[in-house]
Amino acid sequence: LKIGVLVSGRGSNLQAIIDAIESGKVNASIELVISDNPKAYAIERCKKHNVECKVIQRKEFPSKKEFEERMALELKKKGVELVVLAGFMRILSHNFLKYFPNKVINIHPSLIPAFQGLHAQKQAVEFGVKFSGCTVHIVDESVDAGPVIVQAVVPVLPEDDENTLADRILKWEHKILPQTVQWFAQDRIIIDGRKVIVKDATY
Ligand code: GRF
Repeated sequence: LKIGVLVSGRGSNLQAIIDAIESGKVNASIELVISDNPKAYAIERCKKHNVECKVIQRKEFPSKKEFEERMALELKKKGVELVVLAGFMRILSHNFLKYFPNKVINIHPSLIPAFQGLHAQKQAVEFGVKFSGCTVHIVDESVDAGPVIVQAVVPVLPEDDENTLADRILKWEHKILPQTVQWFAQDRIIIDGRKVIVKDATY
């Protein structure tokens, strides 16, 4: 499966995908990484692993539409079949999504629909929930609310702050995001409206 990954920052989820591919756990190839941030540490990770990375910044374009269309074009040129948002800090509109229908996925550090948007782990600590986690979902035009593919649950402990909770959640992000890429590679993802079924999944 040919994939593209969109990043804006640290890139630890990108690293998890690279590692899973290199170890043969995921049958995919990263055709292109796009960073909208020239300072993203994710770019260094690409260099280290010989993954092609392009910096495409919003400010290079007169409109969001042109920015999104350029990103889509670059991905299409590489034959990308699945787009993975891994800490990509921008909201994608129809002008991007129309090129990859039901083939854009995102990792979000909460059990959606709880705590959408920014600082999900802080929101969870402040709300006082006893469990949180992470979600891989299909990206549609809603923000952090598209059809759920898989979630992992972690406890929120009394002594947690947003950082300790974020660390606990991140370990699971690094498992369920590569796992989801592998399910797509195996053609096991069936989307029926809001319901996503993973063929032959054992839970
Ligand atoms: C992760 O917590 C992810 O869930 C959220 O942004 C963060 C990105 O981290 N969408 P990294 O860049 O993959 O290290």
